[in-house]
Amino acid sequence: MEITNVSEYEAIAKEKLPKMVYDYYASGAEDQWTLKENRNAFSRILFRPRILIDVSKIDMSTTVLGFKISMPIMIAPTAMQKMAHPEGEYATARAASAAGTIMTLSSWATSSVEEVSSTGPGIRFFQLYVYKDRNVVAQLVRRAEKAGFKAIALTVDTPRLGRREADIKNRFTLPPFLTLKNFEGLDLGKMDEAADSGLASYVAGQIDRTLSWQDVKWLQTITKLPILVKGVLTAEDTRIAVQSGAAGIIVSNHGARQLDYVPATIMALEEVVKAARGEVPVFLDGGVRRGTDVFKALALGASGIFIGRPVVFSLAAEGEAGVRKVLQMLRDEFELTMALSGCRSIQEITRNHIVADWDTPR
Ligand code: FNR
Repeated sequence: MEITNVSEYEAIAKEKLPKMVYDYYASGAEDQWTLKENRNAFSRILFRPRILIDVSKIDMSTTVLGFKISMPIMIAPTAMQKMAHPEGEYATARAASAAGTIMTLSSWATSSVEEVSSTGPGIRFFQLYVYKDRNVVAQLVRRAEKAGFKAIALTVDTPRLGRREADIKNRFTLPPFLTLKNFEGLDLGKMDEAADSGLASYVAGQIDRTLSWQDVKWLQTITKLPILVKGVLTAEDTRIAVQSGAAGIIVSNHGARQLDYVPATIMALEEVVKAARGEVPVFLDGGVRRGTDVFKALALGASGIFIGRPVVFSLAAEGEAGVRKVLQMLRDEFELTMALSGCRSIQEITRNHIVADWDTPR
């Protein structure tokens, strides 16, 4: 049967993948309240469409950190994509580049920065986890820069791994035929078959819990690449991020995999946008599954969105073709939303094109 929306890939992936892998991709933390909320919150925002505007031409293109892309829909970093499909991150990179958009490669990819850059041209960002061993970090950032990555997305919501109970029950670990390729030569490419979650113990052993705003500054001394701070949910941290030299902010709750009972990202977005005062662009990820979701995020002030799970699920189902299809479906839906709302360009999308249930009656 023909696939007609992004969410349909999840059921196909569930059927195809080993339970341990599907659960790792799908899960949120603890009660998974935030996981549901990331989706539900979008339904608290309705449209105020404008009519009788000539929408025969729609331009979805936009610019992110100076890079022109075909649409404000980008790919979030998701770890270990070769568990989904043998071509893993290569397939994702090629699909993103075919769609004219940006892919973010995870630190914990099963393909290295060099390997991904050799799959062909494309604008790519590198997601960074900061290891206790700062030489490892400096070396990796240098490699990403050399391999042509255009920005660092510094993940700041993971001093420890969130409690994902399915991973504990399944004793999740990276399958033996795969490696965290960016760390292969550094002897950090493998995960123990430890008690409970192998990933949780890997994080506990290697990731630096002391990470602080000082390190955002430190990072700027080792790279010229712009730094996006990924995982901001409050106005307070937005101000500090701006003052610490961040080039942009990603409103993210890590796909609801870290602290449960944080708000849906779409609920936190406006607070962050206001605090950013237009000084840096604000992006969002979390629960985006429809073109209407993309429009709502932009109407609330986001400069673009990123998708996580739709990529791994479509990759599992159909490889590169699946990821291409996901990007195409979101693009088509977003274009239709713009047309039916009377917006011909990204600049024409305003706060007045939506009404949120927290708005005061006009
Ligand atoms: C992630 N995410 C993530 N984030 C990050 O900074 N580094 C990483 O390695 C990963 N890995 C990862 C794996 C999987 C399977 C998932 C689902 C998520 C979080 C990711 O970048 C993003 O914030 C969310 O996935 C966005 O939410 P949606 O689109 O999955 O709802």
